[in-house]
Amino acid sequence: MKLAVFASGNGSNFQAIADAVAEGMIDAEITLLFCDNKDAYVVKRARSMLIPVISFSPKDFESKAMYEAEILHLLEEEQIDLVVLAGYMRIIGSTLLEVFSNRMINIHPSLLPHFPGLHGIRDAFYANVSETGVTIHYVDDGVDTGPIIAQEKVQIEAIDTLDSLEEKIHNVEHKLYPKILAKLIKNQQGESLS
Ligand code: GRF
Repeated sequence: MKLAVFASGNGSNFQAIADAVAEGMIDAEITLLFCDNKDAYVVKRARSMLIPVISFSPKDFESKAMYEAEILHLLEEEQIDLVVLAGYMRIIGSTLLEVFSNRMINIHPSLLPHFPGLHGIRDAFYANVSETGVTIHYVDDGVDTGPIIAQEKVQIEAIDTLDSLEEKIHNVEHKLYPKILAKLIKNQQGESLS
């Protein structure tokens, strides 16, 4: 099973997944990291683990379709089975979705369908709800709207600050994403054997 992880920034979820692969908890290889920002910290993380990095930006292309066609070409060339979005800050367009829609998953820091979009943690915190959480879902053409695979709740306590809530959410993400990936891959391998 060959994974491509897409990320744009810090890459703590990428790190959690790469560690789980290295420990043998996920039966797959990370064939490549795709990053749309060559200066992002996630690029350093991948290089230090000797994971191949491919990086270019939509700005280098005339259109989003052409940008995605280049990514698609790479994914097909490397025979990628599953695309794992981990803090990839772009909406996936039809060029990639047409080929990968049932083979592309994302993690979002809220209990979807609540608080989709860029600021899931902050929006939940200022909405004064008593719980939020983490969602892993398939990607469709909406913003954080695809079919849900797994969710885990996180309580917002009276003493929580935005910072402490962010920390709690990220801690859950770093356990949940590797766990669900391992499960998905195991199930798919079971299906291909039967
Ligand atoms: C995570 O909170 C993830 O849920 C969201 O973007 C953030 C990425 O963080 N999609 P990191 O780059 O993995 O540290």
